[in-house]
Amino acid sequence: DRPDALPYDLSGVRMVISAGGTREALDPVRYLGNHSSGKQGYALARAASQRGADVTLVSGATSNPGDPASVRIVNVDSAREMQREMSERAVDADVVIMAAAVADFRPVSVADAKIKKGDDGPAPIVLDTNPDILAGLVRDRTDGKIASDTVIVGFAAETGDEHGGVLDHGRAKLRRKGCDLLIVNAVGGGKAFGTEDNTGWVLSADGRETGLPFGSKTLMASRILDEVAQLVPDGRV
Ligand code: CTP
Ligand code: CA
Repeated sequence: DRPDALPYDLSGVRMVISAGGTREALDPVRYLGNHSSGKQGYALARAASQRGADVTLVSGATSNPGDPASVRIVNVDSAREMQREMSERAVDADVVIMAAAVADFRPVSVADAKIKKGDDGPAPIVLDTNPDILAGLVRDRTDGKIASDTVIVGFAAETGDEHGGVLDHGRAKLRRKGCDLLIVNAVGGGKAFGTEDNTGWVLSADGRETGLPFGSKTLMASRILDEVAQLVPDGRV
């Protein structure tokens, strides 16, 4: 018997979910990082597992949201490490969700020893662009490295600016990334990062746009999975 209202519609669906922030090393003790708490990705992993999915969570740095039961957890540090795990594990997945906050840039070189203060003041940090993991997964699907019916989901945290609102940026990002669903969050002014509540839209490559109700990340997770479940091919469930 299942507890009330919890659908069991993802039974046997293999999901790989990334969460948390990547850390890009500067030297053995320092890194460039971000404020991602990992809460949304962890909530997705927990909800998917409760709905019967076989879930692997590839986790960067988090604020320790608590390990979901019955979920395989793979810890990673940098974007490149996360990419290695995601691209390998996507081969055996029906659904791949990039909920992680991946650093766009990393220091070009990592010092072998701790950088000293010295007498000359700080040296500039030179950056290189990290691989785009989500775009790489879409490319792997196009190239046949992963199955053509693998569902690929991305996230976007947008503030809106002089070029357009949150939704405009989300729509453009969905087209640019080529994923099947893009979860768009409005951020800034204390929204989303590290908070308990979240709000946004699910944009679908087929043009459907579904508003997500303001509420907990757990509620967001279950609404997102409702959309994902519709895209999973019948034979996979
Ligand atoms: N993403 C990724 N690899 C990166 C950067 C982002 O896989 N190097 C993924 C994120 O996990 C998210 C989606 O791409 O699912 C969108 O991330 P976002 O930072 O919003 O998009 P960017 O393409 O990096 O664009 P920008 O930061 O300039 O808005
Ligand atoms: Ca980015």
